[in-house]
Parts: sequence; structure tokens; C-alpha cells
Amino acid sequence: MAMVSMRQVLDEAAKGGYGVGAFNVNNMEQIQAIMEAARETNSPAIVQASRGARSYTNDRFLYHLMMAATELYPEIPLVLHQDHGNSPETCKSAIEMGFTSVMMDGSLMADGKTPADFEYNVRVTREVVDMAHERGVTVEGELGCLGGIEDGHGADVDALAHLTDPDQAVEFVERTGIDALAVAIGTSHGAYKFSKKPDGEVLIMSRIDEIHAKLPNCHMVMHGSSSVPQELQDIINKYGGQMKQTYGVPVEEIQRGIRSGVLKINVATDSRMAITGAIRKVFVEHPEHFDPRDYLKPARNAMKEVVKARMISFGQAGHAGDYQAIPLSEIAKQYKGQLVSA
Ligand code: G3H
Ligand code: 13P
Ligand code: ZN
Repeated sequence: MAMVSMRQVLDEAAKGGYGVGAFNVNNMEQIQAIMEAARETNSPAIVQASRGARSYTNDRFLYHLMMAATELYPEIPLVLHQDHGNSPETCKSAIEMGFTSVMMDGSLMADGKTPADFEYNVRVTREVVDMAHERGVTVEGELGCLGGIEDGHGADVDALAHLTDPDQAVEFVERTGIDALAVAIGTSHGAYKFSKKPDGEVLIMSRIDEIHAKLPNCHMVMHGSSSVPQELQDIINKYGGQMKQTYGVPVEEIQRGIRSGVLKINVATDSRMAITGAIRKVFVEHPEHFDPRDYLKPARNAMKEVVKARMISFGQAGHAGDYQAIPLSEIAKQYKGQLVSA
């Protein structure tokens, strides 16, 4: 199957009442892990690349790895999504490279750190929507800011002070014409999200219900949604790592979000932890090994297991064969006439 539009995948998820994980990648093993997890669970797959990932792979390796994935896994609807595009130029280059979906994160300025004002966000996001929809490419926007700057993304702000405002969300969706809205509900990127299992005081799931009540047809996205499982922290620390005790977003809270209109769930950290734990284990248990395959195979397998578990919990498992890819040229025609005026 050729790569598909994220809008199509999310529209299908909305119809089916399930969520779809969007997993970050930087290399071949991570793409393979996601594709194998998708095959074993019969799931549609969203692969996403940050600007850092695009630079790490020099774009072309990423592109050809994704082409290999479509060739080897023809039964899987597969999306390539730009994660946290910082400017219309970044989104443009992604679209030209073959991404079928882009995020214009206008909640922050182009430095990816400074919170932006609402009018700036509307302007840059709308610019990307016009450019992307012309080619049938999906656009995700973000309103509100996530907390923390642990992995270099986001403002160093108190997440609770920058939650998505439901009324502003209505205006934002109307004026930009985006396909999916990333909401800020108290999460942050990276492993260190919460100092104890989060409750409704710090992880504001009720905000999703409020937005959903005002925008029942809006496809919502949860960022910073790694669960940071205790067992992965324990494996890393058992084999010489030094992670401080931390808490992520419990899977049952994500499932609650999915029941209230969340359709895309972003996960990067859990995959990283799975890979690191598996590699540390081989290094400690087999210090005599020096063939990278001896540790990259278990690492790939560990990531596959995490991704599989998420695909099953989010509900996307079993849905890969529900639909045929609509060519982007057809999707572009569907968007025509729908261009919004700000
Ligand atoms: O939000 C983005 C992901 O955590 C990946 O970020 O590839 O720039 O480290 P990175
Ligand atoms: P995590 O750091 O929780 O995995 O979040 C990833 C993310 O939101 C990527 O956009
Ligand atoms: Zn994110």
C-alpha cells in the first residue's frame, strides 16, 4: 500500500471508536519494530519524525526506509508524519519529501521554545493548511503548551498554566481548517512528567471532555503520552542506568481520552526506554559481545513489544484491513472548496 493520509486513518478511527498511536522513529530498527507490531496486531500505523530525526537520517534514509516499509508491509495503512514542525518552511520541506501529514506547532515560536500568541499560531497554521491540503496532506495544529523542555521540545513553562482553552479551540479550528488538534492537558515530553501517579489535579483529562463537548467532530491529539512503565525504569536501572523514579500517563487515562475524542496518541519515550533497557541488559550479561546485531535485535524486539501493547490498548489492533488507501490526489480534491477564510 502506498503511504496514506493521516486524515483518512483518523477519520476511520473516529468511525471505529479507537485511537491510533503515533510512534517516533530515528532509525531502521525503530521503523521495523513499528511495522512488525502493526503486522502482528493487524493495525494501521503512524510513524512520526521530529526535526531532529529528519536531520539524523538526512531525510533520504528516512524516506527510503519508509518506502521499504510500504513495500514489505503492503497490508498496513501507513502514515509518515512530521512531528512538531516549527515553521511553514519545515512543513513545506516535509511535504516535498513525501510526508503524508505534518504538524505545524504554532503554539511555540520558530525556536521551538518560546510560547507564541494566538494570532501568530492561527497565521502560520493556516498557511500550512492551505499549502498541505492542496496536495492532500493532513495538518495537525497545537493550542496550549506542554510543560518541560526535557527532550528539547517545548517551553519551560508550568504545563498547568498553559492548558488548551476550549473556546479558543473552537475559534482556532474554525480559522485554521486543521484536521487534528493537539491539546495541552498537563503532560510534558520525555520521561519526567509526574512525581507520583497522576491524578486529576495534574493530568487534566476533564479538559478533553470540555473541548469534545464544544468540538464533537474534532480529531484530538495527545502529546507527551508515554506511560514510562515501572518495569522499563527497573530494567534500565538494574543494568547500570540511572533513571530517577518517575511517572508517565497511565494507559487507562489515555483510554479515557480516546472515549472523549482523542484519536492520535504520541509516544516516543517508551520506545526509547525499551531499546535502552534491552541494550543495557545485553552489555551487562554478555560483555564479550561486540556484534551490534547481538544488542540491536533484542532492542528492536523490546520496542516492538511496547508498541504492540499500545496498539492493543488504544484499540487500533484489528483495523488495518478495514479500508483501502485513498490517493492523496483524491483527498486534495475533497479539500478543494473547503479552504477556510481566517
Ligand atoms: O516530541 C518529540 C519527540 O519526543 C522526539 O523528539 O527526536 O527531537 O528528540 P527528538
Ligand atoms: P513522550 O515523550 O511522552 O513519548 O511524547 C512524545 C511526543 O509527544 C512526540 O510529539
Ligand atoms: Zn509532542
